[in-house]
Amino acid sequence: MSQYKTLFDLGGRTAMVTGGARGIGFAIADALSELGADVLITDIEQEAGRHAAESLAGRGGRVAFHPHDVTDEAAWEQACQAMQAQFGGFDILVNNAGIETASLFAQCEVEDFERVMRINVTGSFLGIKHAMRVMTGGSGAIVNLSSVAGIIGTPAHGAYHSSKGAVRSMTKAAAVESAALGLGIRVNSVHPAIVRTDMGDAFLSDFVRLGLAESEEAARTQFEAVHPMGFGAVEDVACAVAYLASDAAKWVNGAELVVDGGFTAQ
Ligand SMILES: NC(=O)c1ccc[n+]([C@@H]2O[C@H](COP(=O)([O-])OP(=O)(O)OC[C@H]3O[C@@H](n4cnc5c(N)ncnc54)[C@H](O)[C@@H]3O)[C@@H](O)[C@H]2O)c1
Repeated sequence: MSQYKTLFDLGGRTAMVTGGARGIGFAIADALSELGADVLITDIEQEAGRHAAESLAGRGGRVAFHPHDVTDEAAWEQACQAMQAQFGGFDILVNNAGIETASLFAQCEVEDFERVMRINVTGSFLGIKHAMRVMTGGSGAIVNLSSVAGIIGTPAHGAYHSSKGAVRSMTKAAAVESAALGLGIRVNSVHPAIVRTDMGDAFLSDFVRLGLAESEEAARTQFEAVHPMGFGAVEDVACAVAYLASDAAKWVNGAELVVDGGFTAQ
């Protein structure tokens, strides 16, 4: 008997989306909420985060905002407590918050490298750590935003590639450990290519700043040419996350779901 609609339904689930104030994270919060989940948007940007949560009110499951710096372990404990206080549980974590910085290896300052690692890697590690302590419902799902940058290299983004590669392998380690311990939590990663958000646009303008493209238009043309289906939309990534968060993916663990319109298939 078919139960497919039920398998994709997130009604009764509770989700936290870090960095959900804008961009891909906001689209993920929108998708999970529309599919029925109660969603806690967290972000370091408080005003934008509050506005994001308000704008999703009444569209699906409940949506709330909690201020949160993902590099701060005490803030993770408070965010987990907020999940309990607001929604009474914690089933889905989307480690979405992230930054990129552009620099050639020979010019990259250690402080800049470490800042990217702290937000993208330590932030995701703390999320996994604290989610694993409190996700006890048996249908837990953690989805980590890696990138095609976690699989291949491009010039001028060494710190970002290093961080996303770490997120990719951290995902697999967490997935295997969770299964071995019978935690009932699946852990997967999503790997988008360029999506036109603030970060996606900064990625293109950085090529101009570093003298690797003549203009933003030239950078856009150059990168669009190697995306067989053009650049992606935030909803493309949100759909992939929603699938991995749902019971439709109940036998998917440690997977890397590439969402790139064929960029890495070439
Ligand atoms: N846009 C792309 O082309 C692209 C491609 C592949 C992967 N990704 C990944 O997707 C995720 C979202 O990217 P985006 O394009 O929406 O970025 P974005 O810059 O538009 O949004 C990132 C969000 O994270 C928040 N944030 C930053 N530092 C934080 C911290 N310390 N604690 C809490 N929140 C923090 C920001 O305030 C912002 O709301 C990132 O992990 C990114 O690496 C993006």
